[in-house]
Amino acid sequence: MPAEADQLELLISARRIAARIGTLARSIDADYRGTTLSLVVVLKGAVVFAADLARRLTTPATLDFVAALSYGAGTRSAGDVALSGLDQLDVAGRHVLVVEDILDSGRTGAALLAALRERRPASLALCALLRKPTADPRDWPTVYVGFDIPADFVVGYGMDYGERYRNLPAIHRLVVGNGW
Ligand code: IMP
Ligand code: MG
Repeated sequence: MPAEADQLELLISARRIAARIGTLARSIDADYRGTTLSLVVVLKGAVVFAADLARRLTTPATLDFVAALSYGAGTRSAGDVALSGLDQLDVAGRHVLVVEDILDSGRTGAALLAALRERRPASLALCALLRKPTADPRDWPTVYVGFDIPADFVVGYGMDYGERYRNLPAIHRLVVGNGW
Protein backbone atom coordinates (compact mmCIF):
# COMPACT_ATOMS: atom_id res chain seq x y z
CA MET A 1 0.00 0.00 0.00
CA PRO A 2 2.62 2.68 0.84
CA ALA A 3 4.27 4.16 -2.23
CA GLU A 4 7.85 3.11 -2.53
CA ALA A 5 10.02 4.85 0.09
CA ASP A 6 7.05 6.42 1.94
CA GLN A 7 6.99 5.33 5.55
CA LEU A 8 3.86 5.11 7.63
CA GLU A 9 4.01 5.01 11.42
CA LEU A 10 0.86 4.19 13.34
CA LEU A 11 -0.30 7.23 15.32
CA ILE A 12 -3.93 6.46 16.31
CA SER A 13 -5.42 2.99 15.91
CA ALA A 14 -8.86 2.32 14.46
CA ARG A 15 -9.99 1.15 17.90
CA ARG A 16 -8.93 4.40 19.59
CA ILE A 17 -10.61 6.45 16.85
CA ALA A 18 -13.88 4.56 17.31
CA ALA A 19 -13.79 4.96 21.10
CA ARG A 20 -13.12 8.70 20.88
CA ILE A 21 -15.88 9.23 18.32
CA GLY A 22 -18.28 7.54 20.73
CA THR A 23 -17.47 10.06 23.48
CA LEU A 24 -17.56 12.98 21.02
CA ALA A 25 -21.00 11.87 19.85
CA ARG A 26 -22.26 11.70 23.44
CA SER A 27 -21.15 15.25 24.18
CA ILE A 28 -22.62 16.55 20.92
CA ASP A 29 -25.89 14.76 21.70
CA ALA A 30 -25.95 16.32 25.15
CA ASP A 31 -25.37 19.82 23.75
CA TYR A 32 -27.95 19.52 20.93
CA ARG A 33 -30.68 17.62 22.77
CA GLY A 34 -34.12 18.38 21.32
CA THR A 35 -32.80 19.89 18.07
CA THR A 36 -32.07 18.66 14.57
CA LEU A 37 -28.44 19.02 13.58
CA SER A 38 -27.24 20.15 10.19
CA LEU A 39 -23.87 18.47 9.63
CA VAL A 40 -21.78 20.30 7.03
CA VAL A 41 -18.96 17.97 6.03
CA VAL A 42 -15.78 19.29 4.45
CA LEU A 43 -14.76 17.18 1.44
CA LYS A 44 -12.86 15.05 0.98
CA GLY A 45 -10.85 14.41 4.12
CA ALA A 46 -13.73 14.50 6.64
CA VAL A 47 -15.95 12.00 4.83
CA VAL A 48 -14.78 8.92 6.73
CA PHE A 49 -14.94 10.67 10.10
CA ALA A 50 -18.36 12.19 9.35
CA ALA A 51 -19.80 8.84 8.30
CA ASP A 52 -18.73 7.29 11.60
CA LEU A 53 -19.68 10.29 13.75
CA ALA A 54 -23.12 10.64 12.17
CA ARG A 55 -23.91 7.01 12.96
CA ARG A 56 -22.94 7.43 16.62
CA LEU A 57 -25.22 10.46 17.14
CA THR A 58 -28.72 9.94 18.44
CA THR A 59 -29.67 13.54 17.57
CA PRO A 60 -31.49 13.69 14.22
CA ALA A 61 -29.08 15.07 11.64
CA THR A 62 -28.98 16.11 8.00
CA LEU A 63 -25.81 15.74 5.95
CA ASP A 64 -24.45 18.28 3.49
CA PHE A 65 -21.07 18.62 1.86
CA VAL A 66 -18.80 21.49 0.92
CA ALA A 67 -15.39 21.34 -0.67
CA ALA A 68 -12.38 23.27 0.56
CA LEU A 69 -9.09 23.34 -1.23
CA SER A 70 -5.97 24.75 0.33
CA TYR A 71 -3.29 22.10 -0.03
CA GLY A 72 -3.01 20.62 -3.50
CA ALA A 73 -0.72 17.61 -3.45
CA GLY A 74 1.81 18.83 -0.90
CA THR A 75 2.16 18.77 2.86
CA ARG A 76 2.12 22.53 3.46
CA SER A 77 -0.92 24.81 3.50
CA ALA A 78 -1.05 26.89 0.31
CA GLY A 79 -2.57 29.94 2.00
CA ASP A 80 -5.87 30.90 0.40
CA VAL A 81 -8.87 28.66 0.90
CA ALA A 82 -11.26 28.03 -2.01
CA LEU A 83 -14.74 26.94 -0.90
CA SER A 84 -17.36 25.37 -3.15
CA GLY A 85 -20.84 23.98 -2.61
CA LEU A 86 -21.90 26.71 -0.19
CA ASP A 87 -24.64 28.05 -2.47
CA GLN A 88 -26.53 24.76 -2.38
CA LEU A 89 -26.71 24.86 1.42
CA ASP A 90 -29.81 25.97 3.25
CA VAL A 91 -28.53 26.69 6.74
CA ALA A 92 -30.61 29.72 7.75
CA GLY A 93 -32.18 29.02 11.14
CA ARG A 94 -30.48 25.62 11.44
CA HIS A 95 -28.09 24.27 14.07
CA VAL A 96 -24.98 23.85 11.96
CA LEU A 97 -22.04 21.68 12.95
CA VAL A 98 -19.10 21.83 10.53
CA VAL A 99 -17.25 18.50 10.40
CA GLU A 100 -13.54 18.72 9.49
CA ASP A 101 -10.77 16.16 9.38
CA ILE A 102 -7.97 18.28 10.78
CA LEU A 103 -7.26 21.80 11.96
CA ASP A 104 -3.76 22.68 10.84
CA SER A 105 -3.42 26.43 10.30
CA GLY A 106 -7.16 26.61 10.96
CA ARG A 107 -7.69 28.71 7.82
CA THR A 108 -10.16 26.31 6.23
CA GLY A 109 -12.32 26.17 9.33
CA ALA A 110 -12.18 29.94 9.80
CA ALA A 111 -13.09 30.68 6.14
CA LEU A 112 -15.97 28.23 6.23
CA LEU A 113 -17.36 29.51 9.52
CA ALA A 114 -17.23 33.09 8.25
CA ALA A 115 -19.09 32.14 5.06
CA LEU A 116 -21.70 30.15 6.99
CA ARG A 117 -22.23 32.86 9.59
CA GLU A 118 -23.40 35.20 6.81
CA ARG A 119 -26.15 32.71 6.03
CA ARG A 120 -27.67 33.19 9.49
CA PRO A 121 -27.75 29.75 11.09
CA ALA A 122 -29.46 29.39 14.50
CA SER A 123 -26.10 28.19 15.84
CA LEU A 124 -22.70 27.38 14.42
CA ALA A 125 -19.99 25.09 15.78
CA LEU A 126 -17.03 23.11 14.54
CA CYS A 127 -16.04 19.50 15.07
CA ALA A 128 -12.57 18.35 13.95
CA LEU A 129 -11.18 14.87 14.39
CA LEU A 130 -7.62 16.18 14.77
CA ARG A 131 -6.00 19.43 15.81
CA LYS A 132 -2.35 20.38 15.40
CA PRO A 133 -0.61 22.85 17.73
CA THR A 134 -0.32 25.20 14.72
CA ALA A 135 -4.09 25.87 14.87
CA ASP A 136 -5.17 29.11 16.48
CA PRO A 137 -8.47 28.47 18.30
CA ARG A 138 -9.39 32.08 18.96
CA ASP A 139 -11.67 32.63 15.94
CA TRP A 140 -14.07 29.84 16.66
CA PRO A 141 -17.25 29.25 18.59
CA THR A 142 -17.76 25.82 20.15
CA VAL A 143 -15.09 23.41 18.99
CA TYR A 144 -15.21 19.65 19.43
CA VAL A 145 -11.83 18.02 18.91
CA GLY A 146 -11.11 14.30 18.73
CA PHE A 147 -7.35 14.29 19.29
CA ASP A 148 -4.63 16.88 19.69
CA ILE A 149 -1.65 15.66 17.69
CA PRO A 150 1.91 16.89 17.02
CA ALA A 151 2.62 19.09 13.99
CA ASP A 152 3.50 16.09 11.79
CA PHE A 153 1.82 15.26 8.49
CA VAL A 154 -0.71 12.45 8.89
CA VAL A 155 -2.65 10.22 6.51
CA GLY A 156 -5.38 7.60 6.70
CA TYR A 157 -8.98 7.58 7.95
CA GLY A 158 -9.92 10.01 5.15
CA MET A 159 -6.74 12.04 5.05
CA ASP A 160 -4.45 11.97 2.05
CA TYR A 161 -1.08 12.75 0.67
CA GLY A 162 -1.60 13.48 -3.04
CA GLU A 163 -4.92 11.53 -2.88
CA ARG A 164 -3.23 8.43 -1.47
CA TYR A 165 -3.94 6.66 1.81
CA ARG A 166 -7.48 7.98 2.44
CA ASN A 167 -8.84 4.44 2.79
CA LEU A 168 -6.51 3.30 5.58
CA PRO A 169 -8.59 2.49 8.69
CA ALA A 170 -6.12 4.06 11.17
CA ILE A 171 -4.21 7.36 11.32
CA HIS A 172 -0.52 7.27 10.49
CA ARG A 173 2.36 9.71 10.53
CA LEU A 174 3.80 10.00 7.02
CA VAL A 175 7.50 10.15 6.35
CA VAL A 176 7.77 11.05 2.67
CA GLY A 177 10.28 9.05 0.67
CA ASN A 178 12.53 10.28 -2.11
CA GLY A 179 10.26 8.92 -4.84
CA TRP A 180 7.80 11.87 -4.55
P1 IMP B 1 -5.84 24.31 7.46
O1 IMP B 1 -6.71 25.19 6.63
O2 IMP B 1 -4.40 24.72 7.43
O3 IMP B 1 -6.36 24.12 8.88
O4 IMP B 1 -5.77 22.89 6.79
C1 IMP B 1 -6.90 22.23 6.62
C2 IMP B 1 -6.86 21.10 5.61
O5 IMP B 1 -5.55 20.75 5.17
C3 IMP B 1 -7.38 19.90 6.32
O6 IMP B 1 -8.79 19.89 6.30
C4 IMP B 1 -6.74 18.78 5.53
O7 IMP B 1 -7.51 18.47 4.39
C5 IMP B 1 -5.41 19.35 5.09
N1 IMP B 1 -4.36 18.91 6.03
C6 IMP B 1 -3.78 19.61 7.03
N2 IMP B 1 -2.87 18.87 7.69
C7 IMP B 1 -2.90 17.66 7.10
C8 IMP B 1 -2.20 16.42 7.34
O8 IMP B 1 -1.37 16.28 8.26
N3 IMP B 1 -2.52 15.39 6.51
C9 IMP B 1 -3.43 15.48 5.51
N4 IMP B 1 -4.12 16.60 5.25
C10 IMP B 1 -3.85 17.67 6.04
MG1 MG C 1 -5.81 16.92 1.40
